[in-house]
Amino acid sequence: MPDSLISQSGSEIADIDGLIQQTHDEHARTRAVAVLHNHALMNLRFQQRDILERDAGPAFEKEHGHAPRDGREIAAAMENHPFYRFYSAIRYNAQEMGPLSRIAAVERALPEMIEVARDAARLNPAGGSLRLNPDLEIPRYVSALDVHLAPGCYYSEYTEDDVAQGALLGAALSGLVGKGRVNKARNFAGIGESIGYWLKQRYPDFKPRRVLDLGTQSGNNLFAYRNHFPEIELYGIDVAAPCLRYGHAKAEHAGIPVHFSQQNAEATDFPDGHFDLIVSSFFFHELSLSATRKILKEAHRLLSPGGIFASMELPPHKSCDPFLNFAFDWDTKNNNEPFYATYRAQDPTALLVEGGFRRDAAFEITIPDITTFDMTRYPEFLKGALTAPRHGGGGWFIFGSRKAS
Ligand SMILES: C[S@@+](CC[C@H](N)C(=O)[O-])C[C@H]1O[C@@H](n2cnc3c(N)ncnc32)[C@H](O)[C@@H]1O
Repeated sequence: MPDSLISQSGSEIADIDGLIQQTHDEHARTRAVAVLHNHALMNLRFQQRDILERDAGPAFEKEHGHAPRDGREIAAAMENHPFYRFYSAIRYNAQEMGPLSRIAAVERALPEMIEVARDAARLNPAGGSLRLNPDLEIPRYVSALDVHLAPGCYYSEYTEDDVAQGALLGAALSGLVGKGRVNKARNFAGIGESIGYWLKQRYPDFKPRRVLDLGTQSGNNLFAYRNHFPEIELYGIDVAAPCLRYGHAKAEHAGIPVHFSQQNAEATDFPDGHFDLIVSSFFFHELSLSATRKILKEAHRLLSPGGIFASMELPPHKSCDPFLNFAFDWDTKNNNEPFYATYRAQDPTALLVEGGFRRDAAFEITIPDITTFDMTRYPEFLKGALTAPRHGGGGWFIFGSRKAS
């Protein structure tokens, strides 16, 4: 491994992200695709509201005798409109081209990245750990398709000790996270930071000793809990070995002890009440509804008395207007996210209650992303005098509950 990368941090483990070096043209292509994707998501998607009001809506009304009433009827009104088709083509292609633009650089760095991940697993200089289970069955809702058009999905392994999918989807180059992201209001790695901060303000008595992140991928939104709860032990589970290897190497390089293990969140091997805090982000909408139900029961089992479950997810149908439901649910048919609309049709609190959680302790709220928010205004948000920016535009929808003490 390059010494320069080791000496930069003083860690025995090289910076696995830093090993991926794009050429000038690759970098330009990745950025162009990220800008195009962002334009489709943040501008074209919402411009469809005008098209609906001026054009597709009145045409639907003429044919059906009433205006479109919900997201599905709006989809029916819009699906043959040239603007909808233009937007869909741009979004689909930008989505698909993102990882494709990064593959070459990941492949070039792969042998070195594998070595770094092996070093991390052998040395664990930060005190974390990596526990893999080669016999784990990948659930069908993950294995049957490449979720959000990412070639190879999260879990595929093409060579021994593979980390490629972790690197490809780890978002370091994606334009979605960190300082180099194309949209300053959207930071996909700001979620753990934001939930941790909110929990501290909302439950000042809460002092979690162990946190578990379900579907942690490479731990992007797990590490930050240490910033708010410095003594906390971090645990992350995922079914995808390449992402866990990658995340473990990142954590060990950064000096953050994280215990990663390859487990299905539907049934884990942790004892009852092992965690005070259980979190997840971008997780449930990718699962079948029956898996979601099992996982919430399992989370309830794993929480200690007084423990908190908090998950960032897509806002449910009930909290959005029909146009937004149409706009969000595009992914169900077009982005290999078949459970999207079914998940959004649920009531998050009802799901929690089915899992054993208390209704009277449940919360559903959009919180500011503290990595992009003007924090001088946070006290106003806490007092209820200011709402957070909308989900995905500077805010994140979260739901959860506190177990009885
Ligand atoms: C969208 S990614 C999560 C992103 C990550 N939480 C973040 O915020 O950066 C969803 C993850 O859930 C994992 N996953 C899906 N089903 C799972 C299950 N039943 N148990 C554990 N992990 C699962 C996938 O492998 C994938 O890494």
